[in-house]
Amino acid sequence: METRKKPNTCTFPIFDISSMALLLFLSGPAASAVGPATGFKPADDILIDCGSKSSSKTPDGRVFNSDQDTVQYIEAKDDIQVSAPPSDKVASPIYLTARIFREEAIYKFHLTRPGWHWVRLHFLALANDKFDLQQATFSVLTEKYVLLHNFKITNNKNDSQAVLQKEYLVNITDAQFSLRFRPMKSSAAFINAIEIVSAPDELISESGTALFPVKGFSGLSDYAYQSVYRVNVGGPLIVPQNDTLGRTWIPDKEFLKDENLAKDVKTTPSAIKYPPGVTPLIAPQTVYATAAEMADSHTIAPNFNVSWNFPSNPAFNYLIRLHFCDIVSKSLNDLYFNVYINGKTAISGLDLSTVAGDLAAPYYKDIVVNETLMTPELLVQISPMGEDTGTPNAILNGVEILKMSNSVNSLDGEFGVDGRTTGMGKHGMVATAGFVMMFGAFVGLGAMVYKWKKRPQDWQKRNSFSSWLLPIHAGDSTFMTSKGELQDATQNFEASQIIGVGGFGNVYIATLDDGTKVAVKRGNPQSEQGITEFETEIQMLSKLRHRHLVSLIGYCDENSEMILVYEFMSNGPFRDHLYGKNLAPLTWKQRLEICIGSARGLHYLHTGTAQGIIHRDVKSTNILLDDALVAKVADFGLSKDVEFGQNHVSTAVKGSFGYLDPEYFRRQQLTDNYQENRLT
Ligand SMILES: *[C@@H]1O[C@H](CO)[C@@H](O)[C@H](O)[C@H]1NC(C)=O
Ligand SMILES: *[C@@H]1O[C@H](CO)[C@@H](O)[C@H](O)[C@H]1NC(C)=O
Ligand SMILES: *[C@@H]1O[C@H](CO)[C@@H](O)[C@H](O)[C@H]1NC(C)=O
Ligand SMILES: *[C@@H]1O[C@H](CO)[C@@H](O)[C@H](O)[C@H]1NC(C)=O
Ligand SMILES: *[C@@H]1O[C@H](CO)[C@@H](O)[C@H](O)[C@H]1NC(C)=O
Repeated sequence: METRKKPNTCTFPIFDISSMALLLFLSGPAASAVGPATGFKPADDILIDCGSKSSSKTPDGRVFNSDQDTVQYIEAKDDIQVSAPPSDKVASPIYLTARIFREEAIYKFHLTRPGWHWVRLHFLALANDKFDLQQATFSVLTEKYVLLHNFKITNNKNDSQAVLQKEYLVNITDAQFSLRFRPMKSSAAFINAIEIVSAPDELISESGTALFPVKGFSGLSDYAYQSVYRVNVGGPLIVPQNDTLGRTWIPDKEFLKDENLAKDVKTTPSAIKYPPGVTPLIAPQTVYATAAEMADSHTIAPNFNVSWNFPSNPAFNYLIRLHFCDIVSKSLNDLYFNVYINGKTAISGLDLSTVAGDLAAPYYKDIVVNETLMTPELLVQISPMGEDTGTPNAILNGVEILKMSNSVNSLDGEFGVDGRTTGMGKHGMVATAGFVMMFGAFVGLGAMVYKWKKRPQDWQKRNSFSSWLLPIHAGDSTFMTSKGELQDATQNFEASQIIGVGGFGNVYIATLDDGTKVAVKRGNPQSEQGITEFETEIQMLSKLRHRHLVSLIGYCDENSEMILVYEFMSNGPFRDHLYGKNLAPLTWKQRLEICIGSARGLHYLHTGTAQGIIHRDVKSTNILLDDALVAKVADFGLSKDVEFGQNHVSTAVKGSFGYLDPEYFRRQQLTDNYQENRLT
């Protein structure tokens, strides 16, 4: 949770999109140190007020030890302690002092118990005459994880008087835990306060649910997490002294997309009854005692989505914990609703009566959103299941959004503690590393260009039926369309509208009523092979969605007509940019990105569905480019479902000559590393 305490009298939280931080005023009379009794006493509870000469008590009643008492933890060469005069403008005394490190410094802590720990870092760029802390740029690392990479407080907030809190949840397995502050060259690192506090083991269970396809996800304890949002939906701010584990829960209003669609509901916290398996440590009663439900559905429509948007970093996987508690129904088995994350079904027909066993009984669900499904705004939606299943309503009581450490154990940026990198920036940026992968792509590309140049021209014509398709997501389901409509759109399949010719038939450009350009592939009804390809393509494409695969937006199967409709890909096949069309040559970077994009599309085919799909006809004519030159794999007419659990699938050899993998051709056995490796 990135929390800012603002030294003024603002008493409501303000969400600041650019920093994902929260302004929060936490003063007032000191409350008791511990939240409602839960029986949880942290085995490790290290609180340090860095740079201070004496201990400090925070408004929530906790005592942070002074630097002097904790100096045994620090290994630093050139460190400076600074302080500001006491001020009642600063929310907590821990922000009145700081330690500044001009060189790398390490805190080493001896822990009494392994397992989950909160690591909280508190920052305020104190004015001082030693270093302008607003300019300090530094990284914070543990032995294993990158917590902050080239962090600069002014990139996170505007107000130099505002405090910033970063909260992490790390499963610490060694008795010793270190925090390393590493300033950038000729800069400095600083810290105002540090918390290392045991969290209960049951907070993160081993397994959750992967979002798409929905299936079990195990190994949650293998990640580190950053708490990015913790939201009490439909209710007020919950401050640390009122949470069972000293957490802050913020209200949901700044994330709610349309306030008119949601209505807050609440009950008294004491009415909440925890069933076996959920405890107040997961979330306090006050979280479950409030919720958002659908606003009076009779005045709007019986069925709509209530949506929340959370700005996020699409280069990371996220763990979304959704909290539910049926405080709205009058009787059991009257509430059934769907939950969507980023437009994908996360929970279908959630029946709280069954899963929680009772009304007013808490239930929570952990959903892992793969980075491939992430967007800069993470979207959470609820809507009733159907009009004839119970009262049409849907609820949400709380949401926690945790960023998951990436493949190199970083929670910030693409570099690991050991210098490894995740390879590529997500949006086609060529990063400095990932060299091995890029080099592989380079070699693959060289080989492809070489082969194509050598191939006799007439082989190029023998492509099955792709050419100029193109993809875009026209919603999640494929629509069927009528031939008449398409006849109009293509000016009655006028020859001048033809943009490609393939074995399957012609490809036309067409403009739909709303102005959308689409590519229309019209099958040749005489072709027996055509019918199979037509069906395969519909079957395959209707279950696939990926940035690097073309998507089918409709089809028509009437009067022995077979027509497929795709989004128009304005830059056509990759092949045309390589030779034969006199198009401006692509740069090496563009070529690489196309190769990598195609490889991602193929990887998704192999791994993104329950079974795995082998394309079997990968070639430059079947890689289409959109107006931003993003590569999309097309033409699934020959592709095949395979169970990769088996070593191979025996099958009749299909594909295009010149591209067939020699081993596949000889042995007639498909494996997932056949031919498609050429591009990866
Ligand atoms: C800082 O404030 C300016 C002007 O109010 C705003 O445009 C900018 O987005 C803010 N930056 C951050 C990091 O909050
Ligand atoms: C922490 O990680 C270790 C090693 O991966 C694992 O054995 C242990 O169960 C984890 N602890 C918790 C509380 O999940
Ligand atoms: C904490 O909870 C108590 C009792 O529910 C309530 O009276 C008090 O206002 C809460 N404190 C804050 C700061 O919200
Ligand atoms: C709610 O959103 C989901 C996913 O974005 C969508 O599939 C569904 O059709 C929407 N439901 C309604 C009633 O609009
Ligand atoms: C995300 O998806 C990729 C590709 O399908 C897979 O390799 C990776 O393991 C997934 N990550 C998580 C956390 O599920």
